[in-house]
Amino acid sequence: MTRYLITGANRGIGLEIVAQLLKRPDATVLATCRDPLNADDLQALNAQYGERLTVLPLEQADAQSIHALAGRAAEHVEALNVLINNAAINVDDSVQSLTGITQETMLEVLNVNTVGPLLVAQALVGLLRKGQNPKLVNISTQMASIEQRTYGGSYAYTASKAALNMTTRGLAADLRGVTVIALDPGWVKTRMGGKGAQLTTEESALGVLRVIDGLTPADSGGYFRWNGKRLPW
Ligand SMILES: NC(=O)c1ccc[n+]([C@@H]2O[C@H](COP(=O)([O-])OP(=O)(O)OC[C@H]3O[C@@H](n4cnc5c(N)ncnc54)[C@H](OP(=O)(O)O)[C@@H]3O)[C@@H](O)[C@H]2O)c1
Repeated sequence: MTRYLITGANRGIGLEIVAQLLKRPDATVLATCRDPLNADDLQALNAQYGERLTVLPLEQADAQSIHALAGRAAEHVEALNVLINNAAINVDDSVQSLTGITQETMLEVLNVNTVGPLLVAQALVGLLRKGQNPKLVNISTQMASIEQRTYGGSYAYTASKAALNMTTRGLAADLRGVTVIALDPGWVKTRMGGKGAQLTTEESALGVLRVIDGLTPADSGGYFRWNGKRLPW
């Protein structure tokens, strides 16, 4: 039995990862969302797959909600094999341009995209350490690559994900025995990625899961793309 916990699973890439995982008979999935009662797609999967899927509440901007998640997760599984920090926000280009950016926008996005995943990792590391071959995957973006940054704007989102990348390196050093990576899912047709994106959620989730399946401890501290290629920091 392989036990997964994935955040932000009610739509987009997270929902598709859950759907693909549940097709594997040995997978048990804890899927978080902000409002389980109104997460219709997750509830439909729950009706289909029963107790192999548990839907749990998580508001990632709220430390108390993260703490509560750890307690609830421990009621359902003795251990976790894979934690996927997927939930995140982006904001309109206009409010994160050099002229539009404010303290409030920077702090809001950093809180959800960087502080949240770090506290989720902190809260769940005990369960991860009890799992065999544990993996912690922080969903990042190619836009977080400092080396590839040749354009302006998008200050809040790109900084929050570059900080998540740095957090990934710290976690990889602190959590010996857990394989910790940052993973870009590609440019994907979701509410965040928009209709003009390159990949479907199916293609992205397939690639993301292929990368996660193939991880070994030697990959810890790495920054990968959905197609398995490495990204420069
Ligand atoms: N789509 C792309 O092209 C692309 C490219 C690179 C990286 N990514 C990354 O891939 C991941 C998934 O993106 P996506 O495209 O699937 O985005 P999405 O469709 O916008 O979904 C985002 C998910 O995060 C959840 N979320 C947002 N704020 C939250 C909060 N404060 N607490 C808890 N959950 C919260 C959302 O829940 P609600 O429904 O409640 O808002 C939703 O489930 C993100 O980390 C994103 O940065 C996406």
